[in-house]
Amino acid sequence: MSTITVHRVNKRFVHHSETGERNIVAVQDVSLKIGDGEVLAVVGPSGCGKSTLLRLIAGLIPPDSGEVLYDNLPLNEIPLMDRGIGMVFQEGALVPHWEARRSVGFFLWLRKREYEVPERVARIAQITGFGLDDLLDRMPRQLSGGERQRVAVARALARDPRVFLFDEPFSNIDAKLRGTARVELRRLLNEFPVTSVYVTHDQHEAIALANRIAVMNEGQIMQVGTFEQLYTSPRSQFVAEFIGTPPINILVGRVQGHAWFGRTFGGFEVRHDLDEGAAVNLGVRAQDVILDPDGENAIVRTITPMYAEHHQLLEMEGSRESWRMHVPEDMDVRRGDILKCAIKPDNLLFFDGKTGLRIG
Ligand SMILES: Nc1ncnc2c1ncn2[C@@H]1O[C@H](COP(=O)(O)OP(=O)(O)OP(=O)(O)O)[C@@H](O)[C@H]1O
Ligand SMILES: [Mg+2]
Repeated sequence: MSTITVHRVNKRFVHHSETGERNIVAVQDVSLKIGDGEVLAVVGPSGCGKSTLLRLIAGLIPPDSGEVLYDNLPLNEIPLMDRGIGMVFQEGALVPHWEARRSVGFFLWLRKREYEVPERVARIAQITGFGLDDLLDRMPRQLSGGERQRVAVARALARDPRVFLFDEPFSNIDAKLRGTARVELRRLLNEFPVTSVYVTHDQHEAIALANRIAVMNEGQIMQVGTFEQLYTSPRSQFVAEFIGTPPINILVGRVQGHAWFGRTFGGFEVRHDLDEGAAVNLGVRAQDVILDPDGENAIVRTITPMYAEHHQLLEMEGSRESWRMHVPEDMDVRRGDILKCAIKPDNLLFFDGKTGLRIG
């Protein structure tokens, strides 16, 4: 096993077009420490630099500046064969003219340990519950996208890696199998802890698999923490909006006499050092918008039953803004109904309207 250290890493790409060259900053001044046996999930919107960061950690591309270290040794000083990286790419890349069994056993073969392959493959199939038997004698073109990903995961596991790097390994697998796959992978990592970085756009996957989650945006790490920390104490509006489903309501407003006032709701106390009239956004989760006879009128636009969570999710439209809220699952509510809404003042998050940083 190994620790992974990412120290102030930067990576740009130059895009050429008819109008000239454009620099894309894919990864900007990123620093991270991933502990021995820890699983770190990396989440963020499409194009924010997750795959690039993973490729830098794998040593597949060099950083423009900064460095990546395994066990405090710079990656470029570790011979390729000793890096011990089990990587699953976003595309689930497999060698096109090899049957799956050969792909899975490749690294053992490379180390002249091919006699271990059948046993290892059987063990992996048993642990992951992927049911590989059916797949192993086929060529990649005979596998669906999801099947190819399963073979790619099995291949990464078969290496006995020092580190695992996963780039959305289950993105092409249907929801049910994805659920099983992540539970099995978690079980496997409990049994054989391997320092891992797991890129996903699925928060539920990140919560299920990772010890900590790093939220990325535009090449930068916005915050690293447990789901709980990111959810209850986001450092910025971006993190608050990215973590949690449904997305948090953001209501724009201003400071008036040490209180926040928005277009519909208002009167919530804010930090006393904020300037009068300063633009402040309020973040309020759907469960903190409540029904209140003295509340503000809004019309029900959509109703989504959330059976597992035992409530209904409503999209409400007031006269000047919209928001989401929860109501009990047994409430008789219809589209077009007018409800009176208020905000529970307990878990409010305030963000600077200019910088997006949390200010209360
Ligand atoms: N080889 C490359 N050459 C040029 N630009 C690149 C290259 N790889 C990535 N980029 C650019 O760098 C940025 C980050 O890309 P990256 O693939 O890391 O994003 P991502 O977070 O993995 O996105 P997704 O969730 O869609 O997979 C994007 O703007 C992308 O267009
Ligand atoms: Mg990607």
